[in-house]
Amino acid sequence: MDFLLKQIADYKTEIDTLEVASADNLEAYRIRFLGTKGIVKNMMGEMKNVPVDKKKEFGQILNDFKQFAEGKYELWKESMSGNGVAAGPSIDLTLPGDQLPIGSRHPISLMKNQIISIYQRLGFSVAEGPEIEDDFHNFTALNLPEHHPARDMQDTFYIQQNPDWLLRTHTSNIQIREMEKGQLPLRIICPGRVYRNETISARSHCFFHQVEGLYIDENVSFADLKQTLYYFVQEMYGKDVKVRFRPSYFPFTEPSAEMDISCQICGGKGCSICKKTGWLEILGCGMIHPNVLTNCGIDPDKYTGFAFGMGIERPALLKYGINDIRLFSENDVRFLRQFVAAT
Ligand code: DAH
Repeated sequence: MDFLLKQIADYKTEIDTLEVASADNLEAYRIRFLGTKGIVKNMMGEMKNVPVDKKKEFGQILNDFKQFAEGKYELWKESMSGNGVAAGPSIDLTLPGDQLPIGSRHPISLMKNQIISIYQRLGFSVAEGPEIEDDFHNFTALNLPEHHPARDMQDTFYIQQNPDWLLRTHTSNIQIREMEKGQLPLRIICPGRVYRNETISARSHCFFHQVEGLYIDENVSFADLKQTLYYFVQEMYGKDVKVRFRPSYFPFTEPSAEMDISCQICGGKGCSICKKTGWLEILGCGMIHPNVLTNCGIDPDKYTGFAFGMGIERPALLKYGINDIRLFSENDVRFLRQFVAAT
């Protein structure tokens, strides 16, 4: 027993004089003293050779030794993590970090954000509305009563459980929802996804995106509408872009127009994209029909307003030189990764 006590005292002195300066030193210490075949375990094994009447005393000494050895280990380990020299596998903080792949925004989001930011500079704020809509907000309130032939302009997906519900065919439903709130003047831009029962091809899809614009106040005129849209196309396509308005028909506007810009691909000379006309149609617009204002509780004798609606896919196809609309919804990372640096 005396021999064992002497051994323990020697080990304590050894530990006290040790210099543990690196993770490797610390690991070597752990294996030598605390490992499964280490000194502490060995000393525990000596217990069986100690006379019965000394077992208690020796057990106490052994325990103290164990705690001492373990305590030292914890102390060194802690001081090393503070120094940046960790125990276990060492970490070199001077090495460059792992390169994380940079994600990209979807081209539709890029185009949407660009459109929004232009109108925001004119004081429009963003409003959104539901994609599952009722007949009133998608059609009736927009001056398209039941059986109105203009409803056939848009092939609608109806919800089976309730024929009054449908997937909105345009973002014009947001106009109605915002007007109903009754806070005038109203100057909003409304982006969103819309659905139509159309055959999927390179040029058309059963869902796509639109941005709706709306401005209602006293004395709003068609001149305000034109100026707003001129500003938009010049910001979007540059100062040289040409614009033309063609008379058109929408049940919710009177008068109505469609706006074309000079073809961005051929510069107006005529190509396959503009079908040799030199012009590209980009939006529908007009002065809000008095019936629509009345349907939303707004006095058409006091207030007037303009509205416009444009697709997002078409300008995105043009801007990024994409030739198939289906690519937008296929989630092919080889396609999406190309927009990492795009704005
Ligand atoms: N809702 C129309 C469509 O989906 C687009 C549109 C045309 C919106 C004229 C308007 C508008 O607000 O004034 O084809």
